Amino acid sequence: MLLAGFFIGGPVKVFAVRVLYGSVFFRVRFRVRLRVRHLVMKILGIETSCDETAAAVVEDGSRILSSVVASQVAVHHPYGGVVPELASRKHIEAIVAVVEEALEKAGLRTDQVDAVAATRGPGLVGALLVGFNFAKAFAYARAIPWTGVDHLEAHIYSVFFGDEVPGLPYAALLVSGGHTSIYHVKNHCEMTRLGETLDDAAGEAFDKVAKMLGLGYPGGNVISELAERGRPGKIQFPRAYMDKAAFAFSFSGLKTAVNRFIQTHPENYHELIPDIAAEFQAAVIEVLVYKLMRAAEKTGCRDIALVGGVAANRKLREELAKAAKDAGLTLFTPSIDLCGDNAAMIAGLGYHLLKDGDKAPEDLSADVYSRAARG
Ligand code: KG4
Ligand code: ZN
Repeated sequence: MLLAGFFIGGPVKVFAVRVLYGSVFFRVRFRVRLRVRHLVMKILGIETSCDETAAAVVEDGSRILSSVVASQVAVHHPYGGVVPELASRKHIEAIVAVVEEALEKAGLRTDQVDAVAATRGPGLVGALLVGFNFAKAFAYARAIPWTGVDHLEAHIYSVFFGDEVPGLPYAALLVSGGHTSIYHVKNHCEMTRLGETLDDAAGEAFDKVAKMLGLGYPGGNVISELAERGRPGKIQFPRAYMDKAAFAFSFSGLKTAVNRFIQTHPENYHELIPDIAAEFQAAVIEVLVYKLMRAAEKTGCRDIALVGGVAANRKLREELAKAAKDAGLTLFTPSIDLCGDNAAMIAGLGYHLLKDGDKAPEDLSADVYSRAARG
């Protein structure tokens, strides 16, 4: 019913009809192949798990032919966070134009796409369903394979677009607005989560602290820029290591400490904002670096990766690179444009899932719901 609801909308309907028209009238319809046999593939990736509508075309899981991201930041900015219902509506409005732009930039017609991959979760239910059902309809209409991709595993895959890529297995730190976890990555389709945050995600803590300081949403970038001018250690905030031998994180105590400082220094906290930002950032980074280095030690991995929106943080990249060098490890990070949400990582990992015979079920919608609920 939801799918039918989506396609009653104007632009999506026109696009769907065009894709169907091409399929029904110009091609002999054949049974959807669920297993991809040839290796050279151009995959259309679609990502709508939160507040970015993204589409990309990736060849062979590694060559990005196009990557388009339409951000909704301006829509959610006045509310200080993502409003789920607004996010879904904006995805519906943007999805056709974003996919068309991705195809155009890649120089492809719809009938030159070999397969489709879309984020299946975790994320906002309504937001996920827009991209997921669009991808499914596209694939059915063109009778090409399709699959659903885990958003977090796709972030982890984002280090595979560089000239140098990690050797398997490797240890990965995923730091985003919704998640902070450490993984032991055995291969693209097999990852073990060693630990995760017990409360806030690192990016969420950046965003909440920025909100407390009246710096707007999202706050990661603003905090990191202000921190460049601040003096870490001038004010002191706690580091939550939890069990030092384990891989759990906690950032809510740190967030409370910042809040308490603001409450107890109403007259002068404004002048100290760069120092607050610098010490808050230092407290987050210290724990993140420590835990990833511990994970490498425990798993015996020589290669490590830093991924997710917070991986764009310059200081975090710098501190982790230093620690890796001292320990004789090699650090891999995505380019800045691939740290945040994008569809290239979805298409890239989708290629491996399809190639390895991941059979896309007829209907993954229920999975979207359950994963979103957990995410
Ligand atoms: O991966 P992402 O784009 O979306 C999720 O899947 O959550 O991550 C977004 C998060 C936001 O919380 C944002 O504030 C944070 O990444 N972020 C940063 C920086 N750039 C983005 N955090 C710290 N420093 C940055 N430079
Ligand atoms: Zn993400």
